[in-house]
Amino acid sequence: MTEQAPVNEAVAKPVTLPDAQTVTSVQHWTDRLFSFRVTRPQSLRFRSGEFVMIGLMGDNGKPLLRAYSIASPAWDDELEFYSIKVQDGPLTSKLQHIQPGDQIILRPKPVGTLVLDALLPGKRLWFFATGTGLAPFASLMRDPDTYERYDQIVMMHTCRDVAELDYGRQLVEDIKSDEMLSELMGDGFADKLLYYPTTTREDSANMGRITDNLSSGKVFADLGIAGISPEHDRGMVCGSLAFNTDMKEILEGFGLEEGANSDPKQYVVEKAFVGDGV
Ligand code: FAD
Ligand code: A2P
Repeated sequence: MTEQAPVNEAVAKPVTLPDAQTVTSVQHWTDRLFSFRVTRPQSLRFRSGEFVMIGLMGDNGKPLLRAYSIASPAWDDELEFYSIKVQDGPLTSKLQHIQPGDQIILRPKPVGTLVLDALLPGKRLWFFATGTGLAPFASLMRDPDTYERYDQIVMMHTCRDVAELDYGRQLVEDIKSDEMLSELMGDGFADKLLYYPTTTREDSANMGRITDNLSSGKVFADLGIAGISPEHDRGMVCGSLAFNTDMKEILEGFGLEEGANSDPKQYVVEKAFVGDGV
């Protein structure tokens, strides 16, 4: 069957089903960031924190696909994505113009290392993200399983400017007032989630790179945490290659070892994007 999706001229060519999903909402956060939700294929099962390939039909009639972390939790009826807008990016120069009712391509084969099962049991789980690296944690922060497995969750997110933190800030506020999560987890679950947003190029309540705030101990002093230990602490890292490399060194300095799906240990890492020339 060659059913055709409706076409938003600003976006691209029609998508041929069955991999088409319909956009249900779009929110623009800054001129570089937006989020959107799409219908979820009934057959799609994923673990919170995983990524899939999504995209649009290219002008050459071939699918133009990129890796995207699913920002919504595994229980959600829809799928949410949090996206950069690269002005000359092959995909996002077009994707940023999607509107409700448009269709995107979604290959329903979720994969990734930022999953709870890739870590050994622990007491405190740290999420370390820069920019859109927040996306997999937007999923995990909304998953009751995260709160069942850990006594405390610390979300460290760093961006250049205050406005770039808005999606994450709003999300954390929503989680803390979410009645369904409260019912599932019991009152007080919200106190388990500590949020530590920082900026590096605009003044805000907390400043500085995640790496510097860990090395100086500032984040521990601010949150009243003794430090990071391989016995109790687990970490997940998602940012640029440079950030991930620096974070590995810091976490290994605390005695944590890198794990994987097949070999769970104390921390896991995934790239938020593949940079120029990398
Ligand atoms: P591309 O040709 O893909 O990229 C052009 C350049 O833009 C890159 O070389 C890089 O310098 C820069 N760039 C690309 N993506 C980003 C980004 N996210 N943040 C900052 N700079 C960037 N992107 C998301 O927006 N949200 C996600 O949830 C997401 N998850 C990903 C998960 C994985 C495992 C990987 C490998 C990548 C992920 N990406 C994500 C990046 C995404 O795959 C694309 O690179 C992005 O959508 C831009 O596509 P493009 O075709 O417009 O430009
Ligand atoms: P900085 O402003 O000091 O470069 P970008 O927008 O370039 O992707 O960066 C997102 C955030 O990640 C910025 O706040 C940036 O800080 C920070 N950052 C970039 N590289 C590193 C790194 N190697 N270690 C820690 N933070 C980093």
